Amino acid sequence: METLTNWGPRVTGTGAEKQTLDFVEQTLKGYGYEVTRQEFDLPEVKASEFTVGEQSIASAVTRNSVTTDGVGVRAGLFFAKFGEEADFTAGADGKIALVARGGGVTFQNKVDHAQNAGAVGVIIYDNVEKEEPLSYSATSTIPAIGITQAQGELLKESTDNANIVISVVDQQTSANIIATKYPENGSTASEIVYISAHVDSVPGAPGANDNATGTAAALEMARVLKDQPLDKELRIAFVGAEEIGLVGSRYYANLLSEEEKARSIANFNMDMVATAWENATAIYTNTVDGEANLVTESASKVAKIIGTPSEIVLFKRGSSDHVAFDEVRIPAANFIRREPGTHSLEPYYHNENDVMEYVSKDRLKEMIDLVGGAVYSVVRKK
Ligand code: BES
Ligand code: ZN
Repeated sequence: METLTNWGPRVTGTGAEKQTLDFVEQTLKGYGYEVTRQEFDLPEVKASEFTVGEQSIASAVTRNSVTTDGVGVRAGLFFAKFGEEADFTAGADGKIALVARGGGVTFQNKVDHAQNAGAVGVIIYDNVEKEEPLSYSATSTIPAIGITQAQGELLKESTDNANIVISVVDQQTSANIIATKYPENGSTASEIVYISAHVDSVPGAPGANDNATGTAAALEMARVLKDQPLDKELRIAFVGAEEIGLVGSRYYANLLSEEEKARSIANFNMDMVATAWENATAIYTNTVDGEANLVTESASKVAKIIGTPSEIVLFKRGSSDHVAFDEVRIPAANFIRREPGTHSLEPYYHNENDVMEYVSKDRLKEMIDLVGGAVYSVVRKK
């Protein structure tokens, strides 16, 4: 398996999301957990995106393009004006061609010229100002996508140092990875406690705090808890497709049997747990009804015992995977950092500034100590 050290965007349904899930799956197996991979289809079909540096930009629903494997096609950029044959000099070979719409050259001809010149992908940008990315029809063996005029103008300026990834996916799928640890007595009838974290990110954001932090926290709890004797069943669920509407966690929760639901007593959901934003001094425990439950109470108790530095605030809020657990009547809460009083999220939320620079290692450790301790206080052998 390729070892990733630089986690970029993991947009729902893309190869990057799958690579992350693969990494999580292998890591959990390495820890000795029983691991289940639950695949599911996403509602949308044929979407394309492109990534410049760490920034992922959603582009159109692509009509005719071939799809790409893995994370997509990665190359430098070659600007080919309107895409006349003569615009493609030798420098186009092995590059992704950026072409303007119009100039009397058809979409099919632009794409053909790029392909014949050895380009590995084509991006055509609109010549009129529109919100919607350009959607066109052309056939080729290289991926061909459309973007807005504004995106095209921006790319044009960065031609020399742009490193672009184009990915085009057809029927998109995603998956959940679930690690299970049984109680020491081997019982399959004990109470069940869940940790959850979504691995996917939105287009246009690298997804460092949302939610590489929650993913890392859940993985670290898995590592630490693997050797501890438990008297309850522990399930650690890494879910896909949260960002398009809790699709992965709902898929998981809705497939639980009545018997499993009856045994389920708590969901600790990790989402955006370690922003470095200085105003986010409080740890929020968000529940769907705003009321305390086993999850928030165990966290408050442990916070006192270990002396968690941050103030803990109980708050009524959905917007993450704890909602899916709550919907099947499992007591659930989301752990997140916010600014107390205003309840604001960091200014980097869902934008290009959601990068590692704005993640705090100390706050990540604080959250893992708190939630890991709270989970352990519930599942440990007594
Ligand atoms: N991590 C975010 C936001 C969030 C906000 C989590 C508040 C927990 C509490 C999450 O990934 C997200 O962006 N959620 C969406 C809603 C979801 C149902 C698609 C949102 O808040 O817009
Ligand atoms: Zn999130």
